[in-house]
Formats: sequence, C-alpha cells, structure tokens
Amino acid sequence: MAANISINPSSSIRDVTKMERIGAHSHIHGLGLDANLEPRASSQGMIGQGKARKAAGVILRMIQDGRIAGRSILIAGPPSTGKTAIAMGMAQTLGADVPFVMLTASEVFSLEMSKTESLTQAFRRAIGVRIKEETELIEGEVVEIQVDRSVTGSTKTGRLTLKTTDMETVYDLGSKMIDQLQKEKVLAGDVVSIDKASGRISKLGRSYGRAKDYDAMGADTRFVACPDGELQTRKEVVHTVSLHEIDVINSRTQGFLALFAGDTGEIKPELRDQINSKVAEWREEGKAEIVPGVLFIDEVHMLDIECFSFLNRALEGELAPLVVMASNRGITRIRGTKYKSPHGIPVDLLDRMLIISTRKYDATETKEIVKIRAEEEDVKLVPDALDLLAQMGLQTSLRYALNLIAPSQLLATRRKTPNVEVEDVRMAYKYFCDVERSAQYAKETSGMMFGEEELVASVNGVNAAMDIST
Ligand SMILES: Nc1ncnc2c1ncn2[C@@H]1O[C@H](COP(=O)(O)OP(=O)(O)OP(=O)(O)O)[C@@H](O)[C@H]1O
Ligand SMILES: [Mg+2]
Repeated sequence: MAANISINPSSSIRDVTKMERIGAHSHIHGLGLDANLEPRASSQGMIGQGKARKAAGVILRMIQDGRIAGRSILIAGPPSTGKTAIAMGMAQTLGADVPFVMLTASEVFSLEMSKTESLTQAFRRAIGVRIKEETELIEGEVVEIQVDRSVTGSTKTGRLTLKTTDMETVYDLGSKMIDQLQKEKVLAGDVVSIDKASGRISKLGRSYGRAKDYDAMGADTRFVACPDGELQTRKEVVHTVSLHEIDVINSRTQGFLALFAGDTGEIKPELRDQINSKVAEWREEGKAEIVPGVLFIDEVHMLDIECFSFLNRALEGELAPLVVMASNRGITRIRGTKYKSPHGIPVDLLDRMLIISTRKYDATETKEIVKIRAEEEDVKLVPDALDLLAQMGLQTSLRYALNLIAPSQLLATRRKTPNVEVEDVRMAYKYFCDVERSAQYAKETSGMMFGEEELVASVNGVNAAMDIST
C-alpha cells in the first residue's frame, strides 16, 4: 500500500497527503486502445486481453455515436481474467455526462424493494437526460453603485450603472441585490454577470481599463476585458440528470432529499409514465436529449429467473441503456429453477446478447500486471521477486499473486530493506494460503472444522446403518 503513515515530525507533508486507499482497479484508466480501436500492448493500466478490449471498445464507440441502446453484452471468462477491469475501463472512457451505473447482482435482493423495482431504478439511473436551458444574463463593467438608505436604515434602494464598450445603462436595485453586491464585494471597475431569472451575481474579474487604478492588488486578481455589444445576452446552459433523479425529485412521498439519503423507496409506475411523456415532449421541443448510458451488472449468475425475464422485456423498452453483464460461471443452475444453462443465464436472454470472452493470461502478461500493480501500490520489487510473484500468479491465480504484494512489502519493511526481495515473497507465500493449499488443508482436517459436523455425523449415521444391515 502507498500509505506512508509516519509519526516522525520531520516527515514531509507530501507523505501524509499520499495516504490514499488503493482499490483493486485503481491502476485502470481506460481500455488502452488507439484511435483505430486497436489495443496497445500496455496502455492506461491495461495489459493483454486484446480481443476483449477491442470488442469493448467497439461497443463503446457505438454508444458514443448514440447508435445503440437496449442491447446487452456479456463478458464471460474464468475468474481474475479482467472482466470487472474491462468494465471499469469502459466507464472511464465514456464522456463525463454519459451515465455508467455499476450494480452487483446480489444488490437486487433487498427487503425494502422488490427485485424488479431495483432493476428498474438501475435502468433509469443509466439513462441521462441532457437538458438545454437558455438563460438571460446581464454582463458588463460596473461604472458606479449608488445606495440610498432610508432614514431609519431599514430599507435600502439603489442604482447600478453598467457599461459595455458600446453602451451604458442604469438599473434599479432592490435590497436583496444590494446585499448580494456587498457580499460579493463588487466595486466599480469589476466585470460582473447577473442571471436575470435568479438574480445571482458572479464576479468575472477586474476590467483591464482599471488595472492601473490601484497599486496594491493581490497577485491572484484576474483581469478581463470589458464586454462589448449589448448588456443583455442569452446563454445556453446544458446539464445532464438521470431519469431516476427526475423520478425521485418528482415523487411526492420522497422528495429530492431522498437522493442524498439513498433511501428512495418504490416509485409509482404512473409517475414514471408521466415523466416519460414529459421527457418525450421536451425532446420534441428540442429542449432535451436522451443520453443512453451503461448499466454494468457484475456476477450476473446471482440474478434469478424472475430478474432475467424482467431484463428480457425491459431491454426492449424505448428508454433502455446498454446493459453489460459479467460472469465467471460455466454451465450452472439458473437461480430459481432446476435447469442448467451456460453462465446461469437463460438461453433466450443469452441469445439476445453479444458475448465477449476473456481468457487466462500467459506468463509475460501476468508479469506485466504484477509489475503495474506493484507500481500502483508503491512497492519496489527486485527482478527476482517480480519473477517469483509472476510465477505464483500463473500457477495459483493472478489475484493471489496481486494480494501478496502488500504483505511482502510489509515483511520487507520489518527487515528494514527498502525493496521486496525473494525472501519476503517466500515468507508471504508461507503465511497466506492460496485456494489450492487451503482446500488441501480443509481435506486434511476434514471433520475438525465447524459446519462439517452435520455432514460427518450423517455420514457416520449411514455407515452405522449399513453396519447394522450387514
Ligand atoms: N488486462 C488487465 N490489465 C491490467 N490489470 C488487470 C487486467 N486484468 C485483470 N487485471 C487486474 O487483476 C485483478 C483481477 O481482475 P478482475 O477483478 O477484473 O477479474 P474478474 O474477471 O472480474 O474476476 P471475477 O470473475 O473473479 O470477478 C484486478 O485487480 C484487475 O484490475
Ligand atoms: Mg469481477
């Protein structure tokens, strides 16, 4: 870990600010593709898995062009082959206002909400509505502010003179505007922008024309040119909200505060219908645009048959995002039924999906991934230690090797060596079992661990019964 916790007062401040937690995918910054969507060997934290990365890139390109929605993709492959990593890479490549919603299939099962409601909410969170609004602004340089107080001082009125290079106008001020001007410390010579609808004042900077007026001015004073043309201008502001946010804000029982609490409860279908038709209206008027985003459902085999049939239907709806799912299961039982199918997903849904498969990494790729993770965790590995970890990654699992980086580092620090050496990795390997060794241990200690007693007892029971019969 990069946590350089130090209680030594001489340690620099930088050490303290570096104390951030490092997540499993924090080294991933994108899919690492070039402009032609060809995967680079090592880029943006991504190594190997070229075919799957390119496929993900093609899908992304289609979303960015706004061409597809309501499709579903499955990323299938063995554990720790980068399925979640690829989804994270996709999320980072999407534009800032394209929604990316991440859901783990088991989150759908909650007591507060039905399964279909939480899936519907996830769907609607993944659809953005880009709303365009025109606001009228008054922008100009302040020539003079005059404030008249009544005799008692309780009411204030005033006048504000603003100019552009072409015109000058005097505006009457109410007491609220005067308060705001005083709060923002607006002086003659400042260039300001006033939102006509809300009356909000923002200071854009000082006019160049007044630059020489004062000698003592802070180094951070920003100078701007005095605006030209009309004082009143129109500006288009664009902001993106998700359909789910619109639902919650308009839901009478919840109100927008529920967005912060995260406790939104169920939303009535009638309200959703109303909002859909309102949004359709805005689209026709050219006020809004739909931005279909991505819903990523990890560990999708945890969904049950009801969820799958809901997905089948929901994907065909008009307002559906792109749904990306990931699973590491082979042929397994579909939850809620006694039937088996590939990845635990019903065949009719599978048939509608584009399937991307990931494969196990080879020796060089494993080594590169271990190397990148070590750099991310601020751990210095000597070449032999890196080789050993890579070899472990190949023989046990990539995750196990990555998990050993931090303990090895700790063991090295205890030995007071700055770099992690083979010895430290060996020690870490000794302290922490991989799955295989743990299974071996479980086999050896069979019957001694909790949770097995019942089974063992019943096995003994059967044996006993057989003894009697023979
Ligand atoms: N191609 C890659 N480039 C860089 N890092 C990778 C790559 N593939 C996987 N990793 C890293 O390896 C670790 C395991 O990968 P990940 O969690 O994506 O596996 P997964 O396929 O989702 O496995 P599971 O099926 O168990 O969920 C993560 O820390 C991930 O960031
Ligand atoms: Mg995963």
